[in-house]
Amino acid sequence: MKIRGAPAIGIAAAYGIVLALENFLEQEIDSPYRYFFDQNEEVKQFKNSSVKIGDMRKVTLEASHVLEQTRPTAVNLFWAIGRMRSVIGDESITQPLSMARRLFKEAVDIYYQELDQEFAIGEYGATLIENGMNILTHCNAGGLATAGYGTALGVLYRAQEMGKKFSVFADETRPLLQGARLTAWEMSQRDIPVTVLCESAHPSLFAADMVDAVIVGADRIAANGDVVNKVGTLGLAVMCEKYGKPFYVAAPSSTIDFSIERGDQIPIEIRPDEEVTFYNGKRTAPPSAGVYNPAFDCTPAELINAIITESCVITNPSRNDIKSMLEGNS
Ligand code: MRU
Repeated sequence: MKIRGAPAIGIAAAYGIVLALENFLEQEIDSPYRYFFDQNEEVKQFKNSSVKIGDMRKVTLEASHVLEQTRPTAVNLFWAIGRMRSVIGDESITQPLSMARRLFKEAVDIYYQELDQEFAIGEYGATLIENGMNILTHCNAGGLATAGYGTALGVLYRAQEMGKKFSVFADETRPLLQGARLTAWEMSQRDIPVTVLCESAHPSLFAADMVDAVIVGADRIAANGDVVNKVGTLGLAVMCEKYGKPFYVAAPSSTIDFSIERGDQIPIEIRPDEEVTFYNGKRTAPPSAGVYNPAFDCTPAELINAIITESCVITNPSRNDIKSMLEGNS
């Protein structure tokens, strides 16, 4: 949880594989280089060519297996690792130096492609934000969860850059408080008016007609448009349906898992009991109490007004074929 948020964990895993290679090379190569990959994102020349490409493949593959065990839900992790593994397994790469360069380039490409996609999501999504709106967001889908701009929050940043005035409700996002700690901080950094609330205040906020739209990110989207995101997202979508407010999801296409037909087939991470039974280092629930602590929930596509991607806005995802819409715009 030091690095969290779907796009960020994918990018971090790609760089993690590069770091594993760097650590290995530092041990293997009798070289004065402390930093094998320099700050200009270039791979320095090997001084000693005793390194075997088979060993490089082994070390990076092992790292990829460790990294893929870190979290089960956000598909970006497996997507990014899959891209790195394609390089590791590319038999046309026969030289150790080429392998190092290609792996580093792949990680850098993943990062910059995600960043570009976040700007594009912002561009599409900002058209949905109107002056004077009060927008509720859940968890953190900003720069701290992504390549650096944001998905759901990127939409708000772009709207602000276009001169639109609006205010944001950031729910605290129990139990780890990504909304209060991260989203409210990001909003304050950009001088966007932000109000923090407990999730239990959602219904009263809607009943008082204080929210005009909800926008969230996603950890994995199934082929049918069902969205898995931070637990509590489903309740917000239900609330939007009840009170006639739009519910938007902003995510890069790397978050869509076409190998999974429906959202209920997506693995949901169950987090440690202590996140719920302790507060501020003190036990708050009796040790005998059971705990239910899923990190994510699944919002059915029919409750979603639009999924904003880098290549198009998919309106009414339950009635549209996501794949053909994305392909038609790529
Ligand atoms: O458990 P986390 O903090 O990794 O969960 C993050 C979320 O659920 C985000 O809303 C999601 O990853 C979208 S981030 C752009």
